[in-house]
Amino acid sequence: MSDIDRLERVWIFISAGILALLAAAVVYAAFGLDIHVPSGMDVVNARELNSTPPFDQPGLYPDGPPGHYRAVMVAHAFAFEPKEMRVPSGSTVHFVMTSKDVIHGFRIPNTTVNLKVVPGHVIETTHRFTKPGTYHFFCHEYCGAGHHVMGGELIVEPNS
Ligand code: CUA
Repeated sequence: MSDIDRLERVWIFISAGILALLAAAVVYAAFGLDIHVPSGMDVVNARELNSTPPFDQPGLYPDGPPGHYRAVMVAHAFAFEPKEMRVPSGSTVHFVMTSKDVIHGFRIPNTTVNLKVVPGHVIETTHRFTKPGTYHFFCHEYCGAGHHVMGGELIVEPNS
């Protein structure tokens, strides 16, 4: 009987230990490695985008060191602003997006860029474009009658 108690106690310690390790791993990933799940915690008033920086001026802007850009984009039925951007090959583009109306998507095939663009929220991602070419992007969340034409392109120009 007391043996069973002892075994139970051992297993309780092992289980608690595993939980503590997992919790420690989560804390370490968040604070030690700075890994975060996209939170969508940055909020914005979707009705006032026209007067809310940076979304009052969507566009592609130099961002810090050479070769870094910030793409401020607004999604709305049924287009992206801007719908065409050009960067030199090797550029790192930081996308900052929101939606003016309904939920849209933003995907650039053959890259890691794949976002859900929710009105009222600011969503961001970064990608480095090393291969020259025309990268078509499009909306991949059904958003209405013009969903299938909602897209644009990022042109990555070869370095001369
Ligand atoms: Cu926007 Cu589908």
